[in-house]
Amino acid sequence: MKTIRDINVKGKIVLVRVDYNVPMDEGKITDDLRIRASLPTLEYLREAGALKIILISHMGRPEGRDKSLSLKVVADALNKMLPNVGFVADVSGPDVEEAVSKLTKGGILLLENLRFFAGEEGNDDEFIREIVDSTGAEVFVQDGFAVVHRAHASTSAIANHLPVYAGLLLEKEITNLYKVIDNPEKPLLLIIGGSKVDDKKPLIDKFNKIADQIVVGGKIAADGYPASDKIYVAEDFDEDGEGTKLDIGPLSTGVIAGYVANAKTIIWNGVLGKVEDPAYATASTIIAEEIGKKDDVTSVICGGDTTGFVENLMAEKPELKYSLVSTGGGAALEFLSGKSLPGIEVVEQ
Ligand code: 3PG
Repeated sequence: MKTIRDINVKGKIVLVRVDYNVPMDEGKITDDLRIRASLPTLEYLREAGALKIILISHMGRPEGRDKSLSLKVVADALNKMLPNVGFVADVSGPDVEEAVSKLTKGGILLLENLRFFAGEEGNDDEFIREIVDSTGAEVFVQDGFAVVHRAHASTSAIANHLPVYAGLLLEKEITNLYKVIDNPEKPLLLIIGGSKVDDKKPLIDKFNKIADQIVVGGKIAADGYPASDKIYVAEDFDEDGEGTKLDIGPLSTGVIAGYVANAKTIIWNGVLGKVEDPAYATASTIIAEEIGKKDDVTSVICGGDTTGFVENLMAEKPELKYSLVSTGGGAALEFLSGKSLPGIEVVEQ
């Protein structure tokens, strides 16, 4: 896969697909992992002499223009991390042309939410061509790892118009995720939690073939997942007053911690309890700490709830270290399940 290190961006207008689909609560960003994760590529492009850097992204699943899903809030957040970031409330046409023309050398411009327009999810060639024409982009950088499982205009049709290179985030995600599935150091442990069993089933099936051990906690275990020789399913739970199982119990946590202690490669997707309530975050905290303290392990954390939880814990305990806290939810699941992802297929080889 060719990356931005393989091209000369000096003096060029570079179009970069990022994934700024960040969680929001009442108009405020509650987790900025995806914004911070985009910085290395933007800093690299600036230092390599890119003339102008145009960012495109989606947020949420709007139907038409929806003010509450405008990317303006992300541009404001980005502006606090990097100097000289502008925003325009459109993706093509005269306003975009004018905003691009006003950018000074190395300036960054974030366009409005691509999904305000049907052409994005419709993978519409004309829609993305207008973006390329309005911005004058000469090179396309795919750095929105979290969206490469979608065949949309900004992940797929774009390749009909510009050469596509991987950004540093895409490269980092793929390199680390690949390490886990291609010849991983053994024992390989998969930890599954969360609630969406249908989403996780392909991952469990894939790892049933390659992992040494799979452990299942969270609501999936509370609802009853079938155990097997290789699949350990949590067997005791902490419950609320009504008998609802909201965290896995000390016995199961101890068993999982034992597997963690032994593992050389660990992938964790899905929290083990209802972590938004600290009373039921005990098992996830213990396991996150056990993994983060190990220095002889490749560890990958993925899935929005899990990465958010681990990020918060790392803010409190900076000594915890993980090989990769993935920005990808569905994309990481599909990649690890062995699926081919449209947004990666089009990157120059
Ligand atoms: C994600 O958060 O998984 C990506 O941004 C993709 O969003 P989507 O599931 O709405 O396509």
